[in-house]
Amino acid sequence: MLLLLFLYAFLDQASSTSLIDTHTFSFPSFDPNSCINGSLICMGSVTAGNGYLSLTPEPNNNSTSPLEKVGRVLYHQQVVAWPVSFSTTFTIRISPFPNSNVSGDGMAFIFAQDNASSPPSSTGSYLGIMDPSTQGGVVQQLAVELDTYKNEWDPDANHIGIDTISIINPVAAESLNATGIDLKSGRNIKVRIDYHGWKKLLEISMAYSGDMLVRVLNHSIEMEDTVPSSVFVGFTAATGRVPESHHVLDWTFSTIPLPDLNNHGSKYFKMKTILLIVVPLIMGLLIVLICFLPSFRRLVKRKKEMVKKKVDIEIRSRTAANVPKMFTHKMLAKATHNFSKENLLGTGGFGSVYKGTLKDDPPTIVAVKKISATSKQGEKEYFAEICTIGRLRHKNIVQLQGWCHEGEHHLLVYEYMPNGSLDRYFGKKFLDWDNRFKILTGLASALLYLHEDSSNPVVHRDVKPNNVMLDEEFNAHLGDFGLARLLQNDDSVTTMLAGTPGYLAPEVGFTGKSTPESDVYSFGMVVIEVVCGRRSKGIMDENSLVDYVWNSYGQNELLNCVDPKLESEFDEEQVKRTLIVGLACLHPDSTQRPKIRKVVQIFLNPDEPLMDLPESRPSAVYITVSSSGSTTTTNIESKSAPQLP
Ligand SMILES: *[C@@H]1O[C@H](CO)[C@@H](O)[C@H](O)[C@H]1NC(C)=O
Ligand SMILES: *[C@@H]1O[C@H](CO)[C@@H](O)[C@H](O)[C@H]1NC(C)=O
Ligand SMILES: *[C@@H]1O[C@H](CO)[C@@H](O)[C@H](O)[C@H]1NC(C)=O
Ligand SMILES: *[C@@H]1O[C@H](CO)[C@@H](O)[C@H](O)[C@H]1NC(C)=O
Ligand SMILES: *[C@@H]1O[C@H](CO)[C@@H](O)[C@H](O)[C@H]1NC(C)=O
Ligand SMILES: *[C@@H]1O[C@H](CO)[C@@H](O)[C@H](O)[C@H]1NC(C)=O
Ligand SMILES: *[C@@H]1O[C@H](CO)[C@@H](O)[C@H](O)[C@H]1NC(C)=O
Repeated sequence: MLLLLFLYAFLDQASSTSLIDTHTFSFPSFDPNSCINGSLICMGSVTAGNGYLSLTPEPNNNSTSPLEKVGRVLYHQQVVAWPVSFSTTFTIRISPFPNSNVSGDGMAFIFAQDNASSPPSSTGSYLGIMDPSTQGGVVQQLAVELDTYKNEWDPDANHIGIDTISIINPVAAESLNATGIDLKSGRNIKVRIDYHGWKKLLEISMAYSGDMLVRVLNHSIEMEDTVPSSVFVGFTAATGRVPESHHVLDWTFSTIPLPDLNNHGSKYFKMKTILLIVVPLIMGLLIVLICFLPSFRRLVKRKKEMVKKKVDIEIRSRTAANVPKMFTHKMLAKATHNFSKENLLGTGGFGSVYKGTLKDDPPTIVAVKKISATSKQGEKEYFAEICTIGRLRHKNIVQLQGWCHEGEHHLLVYEYMPNGSLDRYFGKKFLDWDNRFKILTGLASALLYLHEDSSNPVVHRDVKPNNVMLDEEFNAHLGDFGLARLLQNDDSVTTMLAGTPGYLAPEVGFTGKSTPESDVYSFGMVVIEVVCGRRSKGIMDENSLVDYVWNSYGQNELLNCVDPKLESEFDEEQVKRTLIVGLACLHPDSTQRPKIRKVVQIFLNPDEPLMDLPESRPSAVYITVSSSGSTTTTNIESKSAPQLP
């Protein structure tokens, strides 16, 4: 029996998540330094200057022929290719040479297995991606080609494609004619490539700079089968018998890690599934056996111990990814000087939090949350927290280090956040704009990870400044998952109203059901509070703060509501965009709120188009709740009634 449990624990551990960090970099423009100071590896004909990268020689360069040239530029560090979702946006400009009626061959965005230059014979139609010697799977790579020359295998001289092992047989290709985009127009073209780690979908969108991006191609790709787990990313371009210039004007790239579930193969997975069925079955048999035996009590006691052990093993295996471990009460009492007043960091929810020093080598500082033993709700929260936060890995989520449950004692151990929680900074303490923006971006990334990118989507249900912890560099770490629910386990209407008034989306009050959209609402409230430097406590004030921001927006005086303590030391455009995002998130109709993915994109990319916002505060939604039998159905319809004065 125990053997089985241990086996189960082992298998679970084998398939548990691994720790990977988000990786983001951004080049708003390129100066000559970019190729020299080490942030980019520029190879072949690549030069930098005038704010952009030239991948192939320029028309005015008399020192070199523009023909049969190849250039490749890579970011100097490797990035994780899987298991992640990634998003990259860049602006390109492809121009024919003056007095030349034909041009070619085009350029590509590439995931390369190493930082070597393009192979020597990859000029012309090979676009610097591969050459005859590296075709057919000799190298592992993925390229999105922007092809301006029609070879016999191409749809036309204005298409995009996805290449892995062959240029002649791309895994996908699509003419750009339908989009109205002409690659060779010499105009700036914005390209966005997103990879959805869960859906395994590569999505390519394009538009002339300043226009709305249009989806051009969707394609399913198994990154695991295509490229190594770490790759170099960048661009290639090539010319052949005709010239062309290829510019990259800006570039942002970010990856969001996913728990690694699939790469341990289906063998483990199947065995785990079998064990998942077998273990409870044996458990059930055991219980039946126990009921028919005379020495009932003794066995019940043994059974209880066994169940407790199973819970321990289960928790341990669910959280075994890296650090989370079981602590003894004695250890934690010692670490916190017996939970002394001096070590008390705060009290709230269902327990108190203490600062503790673990006598590791070197000693580590932790935050220990002591759950009130008497509260049944507290115990529920404790398990909810271990089971959700324990398996989450993200740099903007507070990392659970371990737990302890001995008798009445229920304790959770987290990484220590030296700068406390965000709510402390309304009032005496000051945060500059850069830190505020960093915190909001981090918080949005955490929610994106919870909503879309972790194996089981999670709704936090209590997003508010008190639950946003700040590390020494003021990076946001979302914490307090006591109210969080796994989406798949919680399709029913919840009976208890969870969350905090002021941050609770209006529909939650009616339906009692939290959704990713209601988290977005709470996030919107945090955004405007942080920008305005004011709390919105209680329903009345909440409305007045939101109204105040809406009024400023309506009068085109959005900057009026910015925290006066910032003393105009901020990027005005960034502040405005942030406030507009906040207002959009606060839309009373949950279906009109932006997805958190869009919010993250706007925060990471200053060129990302904003969502449309009505001119004045949208009126409240009308919610009709009609009962049919025992189930409750809810219709939400938004109505644009005239604004009350
Ligand atoms: C190198 O130059 C680029 C572009 O000017 C700049 O963004 C980057 O911060 C620089 N890196 C270092 C290490 O100096
Ligand atoms: C001309 O091309 C050569 C070789 O690619 C390069 O080293 C040089 O910097 C270029 N000159 C200008 C003015 O772009
Ligand atoms: C290249 O030559 C042309 C004509 O001879 C001249 O106008 C141009 O300035 C030269 N360009 C460079 C970068 O030297
Ligand atoms: C391009 O121009 C050359 C002469 O300048 C001519 O021989 C050639 O046919 C033209 N090509 C096309 C595709 O028009
Ligand atoms: C290329 O990568 C290797 C290891 O991945 C590293 O040692 C080397 O310095 C890199 N070269 C450049 C030019 O960055
Ligand atoms: C796209 O338009 C060009 C120019 O009008 C044409 O030559 C080409 O065949 C078109 N491509 C497709 C796939 O229809
Ligand atoms: C790609 O998929 C999205 C939905 O994920 C859809 O809206 C879009 O129309 C698709 N585009 C293409 C070109 O297939």
